[in-house]
Amino acid sequence: MYKILANTLFLGKEVIYLPTCHSTNEVAQDLVSKTDKPEGSIVITDHQLNGKGQRGNIWQSEVGKNLTFSLILKPEFLKPEDQFYLNIVTSLAILHSLREVQADLQVQIKWPNDILIHKKKVCGILIENRLGGSVINSSIIGIGLNVNQQQIPYSTATSLHEVMGVEADKVLIFERIIHKVEYYYRMLKRGDKKELKKMYMENLYGYKTSVKFFSDSEFLGQIIDIDDQGRMMVTSQFGEQLFGFKEVLFVL
Ligand code: BTN
Repeated sequence: MYKILANTLFLGKEVIYLPTCHSTNEVAQDLVSKTDKPEGSIVITDHQLNGKGQRGNIWQSEVGKNLTFSLILKPEFLKPEDQFYLNIVTSLAILHSLREVQADLQVQIKWPNDILIHKKKVCGILIENRLGGSVINSSIIGIGLNVNQQQIPYSTATSLHEVMGVEADKVLIFERIIHKVEYYYRMLKRGDKKELKKMYMENLYGYKTSVKFFSDSEFLGQIIDIDDQGRMMVTSQFGEQLFGFKEVLFVL
């Protein structure tokens, strides 16, 4: 069962487990708006009835098999124009936690913040920020990680069980992720943006290597940079192009 985390300073000091809920992001958002839940509180469930994905998609997850949870952060120190660093912090925490599960897994980040194993999506992240003037008042970090699901309905997705052939310890992975989110978040708070960005780039699928993209038509390109707003710079036969979140797809 999910316990209050002992090896963190503020993250996971309150873990709210709900056997069922519509969406942990929605529950966390409600808690932030209607109560004084402290930064670091976590909402976790075994059964999401209406899990939210990126781009208005739904997030499906087999009951009890995977990790579906949301963290409440209050990054008032972060300028709204730097909010992409929350994606960087979360992606790095998951990437490094999965590498600890099994060292030879080929884990990568797919821009902006999916996590791939062997080029298939194993984890999705949905970050919802509430801005107040020139500060980020709250950030809900929603994480859906396929752990022990054996039947994956999409050929582009996978689970840890599928790649390793054995069950993984969900609770241990959850605790590792929380510990590492706190670690990278504190780096961000200290102003260590350069190092965070460097680690993100080094682990990015398609960084300085040719991969297939789709925008109007398919093309081969290489990522050469991500700017502070999180836009991706790609070089290809069409020259250098800057893409925002919904403007390009990867063909995996
Ligand atoms: C994606 O589309 O890749 C993002 C998926 C995010 C899913 C997680 S599951 C826990 C949290 N609650 C939600 O409703 N969504 C996120």
